[in-house]
Amino acid sequence: MTAPDTDGGSPPATGSWTDVCSVDDVDVDDVVRVRNEPPVAVVNADGDFYAVRDICTHEDFPLSEGLVCDRRIECSFHGAAFDLVTGETDSLLAEGPVATYPTRVVDGRVHVLLPG
Ligand code: FES
Repeated sequence: MTAPDTDGGSPPATGSWTDVCSVDDVDVDDVVRVRNEPPVAVVNADGDFYAVRDICTHEDFPLSEGLVCDRRIECSFHGAAFDLVTGETDSLLAEGPVATYPTRVVDGRVHVLLPG
């Protein structure tokens, strides 16, 4: 239930595991913003949890307003889709990948490794 270390394609050099929500807070194939600073959204993709920076790289729209499909999150504003593992996108609108963060589940809680 964890995503590999990625931060827009490269692993974070340092960080700390942060308890951000319960596994029950994010339904299957849903996405929820769990922090504002930095903005972080947790995605439940078929029971696996992923974390992304909750800001689309096109026009700073919250990805937590988007849709989860095929291990990607699609921005609901103009449709750019980002890979939940790598953050990469093939959208010509987006200005590069979105940051992704490693996750783990401990006692029913989702933890995210945030840079810091
Ligand atoms: S703001 Fe996300 S695709 Fe335009």
